[in-house]
Amino acid sequence: MAGRIVFIAGPVVKAEGMTGSRMYDVVAVGEQGLIGEIIGLERDIATIQVYEDTSGIGPGDVVETTGEQLSVELGPGLIGTIYDGIQRPLADIKELTGEYIDRGVNVSPLNRDHMWHFTPSASVGDEVSGNAILGKVQESPVVEHRIMVPPGVSGRVGFIASAGEYSIDDVVARVGKTEIKLSQRWPVRRERPYLKKFDPFLPLITGQRVFDTFFPIAKGGTAAIPGGFGTGKTVSQHQLAKWSDAEIVVYVGCGERGNEMTEVLDEFPELEDPRTGEKLMARTILIANTSNMPVAAREASIYTGITIAEYFRDMGYNVALMADSTSRWAEALREISGRLEEMPGEEGYPAYLATRLAEFYERAGQVEVVQGRSGSISIIGAVSPPGGDFSEPVTQNTLRIAKVFWALDADLADRRHFPSINWLRSYSLYLQKVRGWWADNVDPAWYSTREKAMQLLQKEAELKDIIQLVGPDALPPSDQVVLEAARVIREDFLRQHAYDPVDTYCSDRKQFEMLRIMMKYHDLAMEALDRNVEITTIKAVKGREDLARMGRIPLDQYEAEFVKIEQRLENEMANLEVME
Ligand SMILES: Nc1ncnc2c1ncn2[C@@H]1O[C@H](COP(=O)(O)OP(=O)(O)OP(=O)(O)O)[C@@H](O)[C@H]1O
Ligand SMILES: [Mg+2]
Repeated sequence: MAGRIVFIAGPVVKAEGMTGSRMYDVVAVGEQGLIGEIIGLERDIATIQVYEDTSGIGPGDVVETTGEQLSVELGPGLIGTIYDGIQRPLADIKELTGEYIDRGVNVSPLNRDHMWHFTPSASVGDEVSGNAILGKVQESPVVEHRIMVPPGVSGRVGFIASAGEYSIDDVVARVGKTEIKLSQRWPVRRERPYLKKFDPFLPLITGQRVFDTFFPIAKGGTAAIPGGFGTGKTVSQHQLAKWSDAEIVVYVGCGERGNEMTEVLDEFPELEDPRTGEKLMARTILIANTSNMPVAAREASIYTGITIAEYFRDMGYNVALMADSTSRWAEALREISGRLEEMPGEEGYPAYLATRLAEFYERAGQVEVVQGRSGSISIIGAVSPPGGDFSEPVTQNTLRIAKVFWALDADLADRRHFPSINWLRSYSLYLQKVRGWWADNVDPAWYSTREKAMQLLQKEAELKDIIQLVGPDALPPSDQVVLEAARVIREDFLRQHAYDPVDTYCSDRKQFEMLRIMMKYHDLAMEALDRNVEITTIKAVKGREDLARMGRIPLDQYEAEFVKIEQRLENEMANLEVME
């Protein structure tokens, strides 16, 4: 049944005569059939947000509901694709319409012609239910795509296709009366079902020292990276995409400036996956909102992203979802809310900003999908507060939800201390949860070593105030040792060069060994003080310089090198001249 437009304001349209339609139904607006979604219903009047430019649309134009909720298509062909916010492959729309995306173009999210090699693993007669694996498709050199029974379907397998080539529209199985294809659909605003959610306890190893050792995120955890202009949000997100030990990466880019997303679109497909030697895109799905795309599509993009992430989680994978930046998403929310003439909350954001943010981050987690299979989604959201002021609503509301806070610091970035994570303001609520893993898999002393290092950094911050007044030389020698050791940790451990071929990734064990030796430097210096060695003599120890090059010693050489570095430190410190 068709309704008629009675009101239009930018991306928001109201249509009457919409009896029978439901909330979140997808509608076709106007003659061109622009894609929209019902976000409000009152009597027979539907409020619709339109995912395409509405210029030229006017009152009286027809609106038709499709009866389907805003959904994504899930199946082989997702990996390596670049989508807009409502899962239209950018390459395909470009091909159809050129550089400027025409409106109302209908493109399939997945390639319908491609033939995939399907290998069945279920048999006729098996009793199966939602998310059971029926077979697999090798989707990319590194991703095995597991074909699952769609949630809600259960019964006996009455037919299963033999191994061979199939398109996503071919029926490869029948469960009860339901025909199963290589692809399925799922509404983006609804979380996909699972058996249960766990408290995450496995660290997501990122290879970035300040994250892993100081402010760890768990697999299935949530982290926020707020930072002012140019402080390193995007570089951090790229480092996480490249190096974290997630099998699948979903990268949602919301650009403020047009060229910023262009960089991502040009750069991402070129990135090598250091773990596999393949392209990073062989395990990545990219969702790109350029600033010239309508705001409503930006609003939808994080749901499109998280739903795709859930689908791969359900296969049993660890998925990492990066959103850069969620502030742009919140601004889309604000703009739409303004058009709806809703009562504005803080700084013009709608009152439901906090709820929406929470609903998004709550879709992260470590879950048991079905008995015996678990997967995880970790969410890392960048936030770009205007003027770098963390007191604004998007940052504040995000911090209330995300369990890790990586605070980027403009002063550190100015001093070229990268990653410019402020070690005094940042925190991780997973620290106590992941310490067991570190103790079991890396070293029982991991936690205590990290604690001692953190205490040194805090002590250094206190001493800084005193130095301002009296200068460093007036400090007692033991405090001077603290300053020396804290400087080593800051400059040679917390700093990590993303563009250095070796230092860009630091394994968990190497991180621990680096920190252990740095703390040993501190302990040996303190012991020397106790033996009455002069502080200037201690500061002059040559072995200290070795600590600065540890990060750049390759993974296959560091163990032997670190032994030498440690021995040299011990020897030198043991043989320092004692004051008479
Ligand atoms: N880990 C790092 N190692 C080396 N350089 C870095 C690192 N992080 C950031 N930089 C430097 O800082 C610059 C700005 O970083 P980036 O683009 O990530 O900032 P941003 O916070 O995303 O900025 P915007 O607010 O414009 O989105 C980079 O081009 C790079 O030179
Ligand atoms: Mg950026």
